[in-house]
Amino acid sequence: MTDIRIHVRASREYDVVIGKGLIAKVGQLVREAVPKATKILIVSETNVAPLYLDTVKGSLEGEGFEVEEVVFEAGEKSKNIDTIARMWGVMAKAGFTRTDAVVALGGGVTGDMAGFAAATFLRGIDVVQIPTSLLAQVDASVGGKTGIDLPEGKNQVGSFHQPSMVIEDTDCLKTLSPDKFTEGLGEVLKYAFIMDKELLKVLEIYEDKGNLQNDTQTLTDIVKACVADKVEVITEDEFDTGRRQILNFGHTIGHVIERDSNFTKDHGVCVAMGMGIIADACLAAGMTDKATHDRMISLIEAYGLPSGDGITPDEAVAGVMNDKKKRGNTISLIVVRNIGEAEICPMDPEGLRIFLSRR
Ligand code: GLY
Repeated sequence: MTDIRIHVRASREYDVVIGKGLIAKVGQLVREAVPKATKILIVSETNVAPLYLDTVKGSLEGEGFEVEEVVFEAGEKSKNIDTIARMWGVMAKAGFTRTDAVVALGGGVTGDMAGFAAATFLRGIDVVQIPTSLLAQVDASVGGKTGIDLPEGKNQVGSFHQPSMVIEDTDCLKTLSPDKFTEGLGEVLKYAFIMDKELLKVLEIYEDKGNLQNDTQTLTDIVKACVADKVEVITEDEFDTGRRQILNFGHTIGHVIERDSNFTKDHGVCVAMGMGIIADACLAAGMTDKATHDRMISLIEAYGLPSGDGITPDEAVAGVMNDKKKRGNTISLIVVRNIGEAEICPMDPEGLRIFLSRR
C-alpha cells in the first residue's frame, strides 16, 4: 500500500501523510518537513510513549537530529500551563533556536499542547504532528488549532498554528484500547453527518462494525475521507469565522457533558451524545424528519456510542455560556436537518433552552 498525501493550502502549506508503518520512517519525513532543524523536542504522554517513543527517537537520531523529550501524565487533566512550561523549559535549556522544531506524538491532548508550546516558544517554531489516536488522525491534528484548558473551560487559551507536516500511521490504530478507538468514531460520524454522504454509506453498509479496528484497508479509506473533508473546510475558513464552525456539530453540548463529567467521559463519546441530543431536539422542533433523525441515532448506536445523556436544558445552557465558541450572547449551534448538510444556527441562551426543552 503506497502512502497517501493530502496537501493543505492554508497560511502554511503542508502535507498530511497517511500510511502503514510510518512511525519507523519519521526521521526522513521530519527532515523533509523541517529541513533546517537540528534539535527536536518530542512531546508524548505516559500511554503512548512506551509504545512508540523509542522508535520515533531512534528514527530522528538516525537522521542526525538532537532529540529532547517531555512525557506528561496522560489525560485532559495535564492540559494546562504547567505542562507547557515544562516544554518551554526543556527547549530553552537545550538551546533551541527558531529553526528547531517540536514533534507531537500522541492523541488530541498531546497535539494541542505540543502545538501550543511550538506556537509560543520564541514566538513560534515548527511543529510536526504524529497523531496516534483515531480522534487525532481524523480531526485534531489537522487544521492548526492548539491550546490548553482552564479550570473554567476546555481549550480556553490557544492559537492557530498550522503544523509543518502531519504523519498518520494507521498501524497505530491497532494498539488503541477498544474504548479509545470507539470514541474516535464519534468524530468520524460527525463528518458523515455534516458533509459526507459517501462516508455515511460506507459506515452504514459496513457489516462487521465491531471488527472495524482490525480492518486496516477500510480504516485507511475512512481516515483519508475524514482528512479530505477537514482539509476542504479549513482551506475555506482557516480561522474559524465561518464554515469551519460546522466541525463543531455535537461539540457545543458535548463539551459541557465532558467538563461536567470532570473529563472522565471521553471527548468523542461526548460529541456523539451532543450530536444525538441535537438530532432529537431538531426532530422535536420540526427542523428535521424522522427518517434523517433515526438514521443518525441508529448509526451512532451501531458503532457502540451513546446518543444522549441526562443533561438538563438549564445545565446545558449554563455550560454553553462558558464556552469560547459563543460570540457575545449568541451561541452558534450546529444543526443537521438533512444528512450531509450542516447549518450554523445562531441562538440566544433562552432560545437554546427552549430548543433543548422540547426533546
Ligand atoms: N476540531 C474542530 C476544528 O478543528 O475546527
